[in-house]
Amino acid sequence: MNIVQLENVAKALVAPGKGILAADESSATANKRFAAVYVTQDEEHRRAFREILLTTPEVAEIVSGVIFYDETFWETGSNGELFREYCAKRGVIPGIKVDEGLVDLPGFPGEKVSKGLDSLPERIAKYAAAGAQFAKWRSVIVIGDKIPTDACIAANAFVLARYARICQEAGVVPIVEPEVLFDGTHTAEQCESVTAHVLETLFAAMRTYRVHFPGAILKTGMVLPGKNSGIPVDETDVADRTVHTLRAHVPHDLGGVVFLSGGQTSHQAFANLNAIAQRGPHPWGLTFSYSRALQDPVLKHWAIHQTDTTGAQSIFAHQLKVARASRSGEMSVSSHGDDFVSHSQDM
Ligand code: 13P
Repeated sequence: MNIVQLENVAKALVAPGKGILAADESSATANKRFAAVYVTQDEEHRRAFREILLTTPEVAEIVSGVIFYDETFWETGSNGELFREYCAKRGVIPGIKVDEGLVDLPGFPGEKVSKGLDSLPERIAKYAAAGAQFAKWRSVIVIGDKIPTDACIAANAFVLARYARICQEAGVVPIVEPEVLFDGTHTAEQCESVTAHVLETLFAAMRTYRVHFPGAILKTGMVLPGKNSGIPVDETDVADRTVHTLRAHVPHDLGGVVFLSGGQTSHQAFANLNAIAQRGPHPWGLTFSYSRALQDPVLKHWAIHQTDTTGAQSIFAHQLKVARASRSGEMSVSSHGDDFVSHSQDM
């Protein structure tokens, strides 16, 4: 593995003023989101919507990298150019989601582990040869009655750590994503203690499996009260808890920290990121890696006006500008994103 190259890619992904576009919804998840707004659920509509996002001019300025799903990674735009090459030419780093989704953890009702590790060395070599410079693997931790268990946290940490080292062997920067789900009735205190435990376990496993920290990135949720808890989300509290937890439990030599939006409204996801950024400087480059908070207002418009590419792209440009402002702690109240709530949690 080329350590310098890994570190440089990690740094570029979290460079000042930039952030990551997560466009790696599996076909099933993309279809669910399309179904919610009555868009035809087929490959051509998924391709067309992603083409609108990727060809928005502001992407080259604001997006450091795009996480692709396998289907899009091999697809071309209307001009016949491969999406990933189109992005790379504009200085936007192509990345790839490589976990193959969630399966039940036998013996642990309600808990999941991500699959796909056995075939990963072959798959990552193929993606790297085709231009992927980073990858993402998502694990899910659910907060509920007597869960998460230590066994579930350890199983997911083991898989994430092995995935990360396999990526680095192939010259690809791993984004490790142990997503503590926003769904649930838990308090912010519970989310904070679970997140702390997950991060401690994850980085211990990554040390054991010899992951080079400056060439790896953490993708995490914010510390929030559960979506169904009835507890209002207060950005000061979210930012204080999130910054405190990350500083205490994430190695300071890690290559970067990025956030998922996790089913928060666009407004919440940007306002919270803004408050987190204002508590800097942080030990790592810290930015967004959003799917729903960036895309949902665009999808909502496109669903009704599918021939209005200009309109859809101007909404996406607005989302990107709000994202850029919020990751720098410079978001003005009037630039809050559209308050669009998405319900589907799967990727
Ligand atoms: P959301 O921003 O919609 O949570 O998606 C980001 C992601 O990559 C989740 O795995």
